[in-house]
Amino acid sequence: MYKTVLITGGSGFVGSNLAIYFKRDNPSCRVIALDNLKRRGSELNLPRLSAAGAEFIHGDIRNKEDIEAVGRFDLMIECSAEPSVLAGYNDSPEYLINTNLVGTVNCFEAARKCRADVIFLSSSRVYPIKEINAINFIDLETRFDLDSVQDIKGVSSEGISEGFPMGSVRSLYGATKLASELLLNEYIQMYGIRGVINRCGVLTGPWQMGKVDQGFVVLWIARHIYKGKLSYFGFGGNGKQVRDILHVSDLYDLLVRQIKDMNIHNGQTYNVGGARENSISLCELTEYCEKLTGNKIGIESVIEDRIADIPYYISDCSKVREATGWKPRISTSEIIREIADWINKNKEILRPILL
Ligand SMILES: NC(=O)c1ccc[n+]([C@@H]2O[C@H](COP(=O)([O-])OP(=O)(O)OC[C@H]3O[C@@H](n4cnc5c(N)ncnc54)[C@H](O)[C@@H]3O)[C@@H](O)[C@H]2O)c1
Repeated sequence: MYKTVLITGGSGFVGSNLAIYFKRDNPSCRVIALDNLKRRGSELNLPRLSAAGAEFIHGDIRNKEDIEAVGRFDLMIECSAEPSVLAGYNDSPEYLINTNLVGTVNCFEAARKCRADVIFLSSSRVYPIKEINAINFIDLETRFDLDSVQDIKGVSSEGISEGFPMGSVRSLYGATKLASELLLNEYIQMYGIRGVINRCGVLTGPWQMGKVDQGFVVLWIARHIYKGKLSYFGFGGNGKQVRDILHVSDLYDLLVRQIKDMNIHNGQTYNVGGARENSISLCELTEYCEKLTGNKIGIESVIEDRIADIPYYISDCSKVREATGWKPRISTSEIIREIADWINKNKEILRPILL
């Protein structure tokens, strides 16, 4: 059993929830959440971490001294990132690269020195945009779906698997994630540390500080609750783009399985998501939100495609399912209801962040 767990990005959405679950299930374990509080709203997670008995350290993974100051740890869950696929498009990519790549290497270095295990949260955005756009889709009433005929390797009725071609470009965000994956695999091979890579689809749940470029499920529900503004961007402008969504506690359940059998999962890369059963299009999400809140906000339609956007992504989780027996337990409708309850209970403190 681990004595000290370091969760980088530990006051972010994923990091704070994992820290709290981990401490709940392992009270004698020291759980440290390191974060530079760059993400607006991450500070709201500090009282939650403290109430759960997790320690917070204000630190920046771009400075290796900040990670070294933590001292020894035996498991690192690397959740710190600039998580937006749009990062770097209209301005400098420096913060993105220095955090998601250079900072991540600083994290791997610290893990090497402590001989700690590493769980790395990668992203489905490692798969290239042109190839995803070349998938054969059919246009249904409320969503795009996969055609039964596909010419691209790694696409099936289950979604996109780890065998998908990696050929062309994928956004700077996706590239920093893929480069970090490659480096972690080298660290595993060269230095004998143990590590697992999880390429996550959309993760969501309470305490996600949803914004236009990241965290769309929370953003959508919040804007319905507060009667704010929303737009359907691109792909015809009617909200048919589809993603699979996974509750962060289901992600935690998977990590528990991976940690328990680290020798089996060491060096593996898994696609992790809600899968086909838990997929939703934007206009289907609108319908849920309208029913739940009683509010119709009138969503603007923007015909032009947004940069780096894709019409469809569903994780084919067959590999991780076979390796661990894991599958998500929380359905799309339960996730949406839980998020709405959380926003309604914390309406005033969340308003400036989510509206
Ligand atoms: N949420 C998703 O849908 C999703 C999907 C796929 C992958 N991921 C990955 O999961 C991880 C967690 O994402 P999240 O949704 O919790 O995002 P988040 O923005 O809520 O959390 C990331 C945290 O990292 C912190 N951070 C940013 N730069 C830092 C730095 N230089 N040093 C220290 N801390 C820094 C932020 O303040 C924030 O609290 C990220 O690696 C992200 O790329 C998330």
